[in-house]
Amino acid sequence: MNAQRTQVAIIGAGPAGLLLGQLLHREGIDSVVLEATSRAHVESRVRAGVLEHQSVDILQAAGVGARMRREGLLHHGIELRFQGSRHRIDFGALTGKSVMIYGQHEVVKDLIAARVQAALPLLFEIRDVQLSGLESSAPRVQFRAEGQTHALECDFVAGCDGFHGICRSYLPASGVKLFERVYPFAWLGILAAAPPASQELVYALHEHGFALLSMRSPTLSRLYLQCAPDEDLDGWPDERVWEELQVRLATRDGFSLTTGPIQQKSVTAMRSFVVEPMQWGRLFLAGDAAHIVPPTGAKGMNLALADVHVLARALVSHFRYGSDDLLRRYSEQCLHRIWKVQRFSWWMTALLHRFDTDNDFDRRRQTAELEYLASSPAAQQSLAENYVGPPLE
Ligand code: FAD
Ligand code: DHB
Repeated sequence: MNAQRTQVAIIGAGPAGLLLGQLLHREGIDSVVLEATSRAHVESRVRAGVLEHQSVDILQAAGVGARMRREGLLHHGIELRFQGSRHRIDFGALTGKSVMIYGQHEVVKDLIAARVQAALPLLFEIRDVQLSGLESSAPRVQFRAEGQTHALECDFVAGCDGFHGICRSYLPASGVKLFERVYPFAWLGILAAAPPASQELVYALHEHGFALLSMRSPTLSRLYLQCAPDEDLDGWPDERVWEELQVRLATRDGFSLTTGPIQQKSVTAMRSFVVEPMQWGRLFLAGDAAHIVPPTGAKGMNLALADVHVLARALVSHFRYGSDDLLRRYSEQCLHRIWKVQRFSWWMTALLHRFDTDNDFDRRRQTAELEYLASSPAAQQSLAENYVGPPLE
């Protein structure tokens, strides 16, 4: 068995794990990042696209913001569309802030490039991660790579391995509480080589359900449709996807979608989930490993980045000043933000989707809420300040 040592073992090379490695590196703290899949896989996984203004600042301060600043699209508002009418929520006027449209896999590519450039350890396609000694001051991570078993001795383990990872299972069942809501629908998402038909994101509610028009660049559109959780993609040839998007996004003033070759098509389940606390002994969970939000509020990646921003500061405090106060408060500090964002993501989801339990009362109430938003600066302010992101504490 090959044995190595590091200060922080990071499980998972998504936005959370990679940013944590970068933040620690800038503070002179060693880490090893272990990823189950290949570099090509994580660099091409199309997922989130909206960065809160503070996520932009965090990435910039971490030294990985140059390409994002050049290629990202700064957005100062979104459009809500219902009953064939358009209603703009003006983030600039309401909050003085904006968001950045920049694909998650681009963030991941920038973070991997920085890690490779600095020749820091990042291992892909590793298998069978097992943790031990989490309640001691010398945890150990065992894993398999290229047919061999390896052991990594460390001071801390950061569980950044996403919702389906293994780190969360090391929290003792008797010591944690899980909170969960599963939604009775999913999103069918496409990436298409088509110029976006709107300059800003459009969140639409139609009799058939939710639709979202987003983008990645002036030539790439990203669109989503509410569908069944077990939707069969075989039933959605490209023409049907475009027809249904056009129906749901139609306006009385004749909006027309731009179409183009669909490069990617997938179905994403919708869930709200939190584990409390997010830490046990020397294991600290961050990002989707600890919480999931339904994507309607565009928050998952932003929460992952905010968690590791807090965790990096706590680890610096431990290694540099010998103080564990911030580490002890890690979970509490993150959960404060997480529950605010859970509420917002649930609210945006309830506002903009058809539920299979909807009755006439629910439909009228939903329309009344959308009309209230369209007409009340106070209601718009609440949406805007949550969408651009609550302040980092
Ligand atoms: P992940 O990105 O899931 O990374 C975890 C990594 O750990 C993965 O690379 C995985 O392969 C690896 N791993 C798993 N198990 C192991 C193991 N045993 N050993 C080693 N490695 C392991 N969020 C937003 O902020 N804005 C949006 O607009 C948005 N839109 C979304 C749209 C869709 C369709 C989807 C699916 C998600 C969206 N999200 C959005 C959510 C966002 O993508 C996630 O919240 C984000 O990926 C979380 O990052 P993470 O690093 O915590 O986890
Ligand atoms: C995108 C994803 C979201 O979940 C969202 O709310 C807005 C945009 C996107 O992928 O572009």
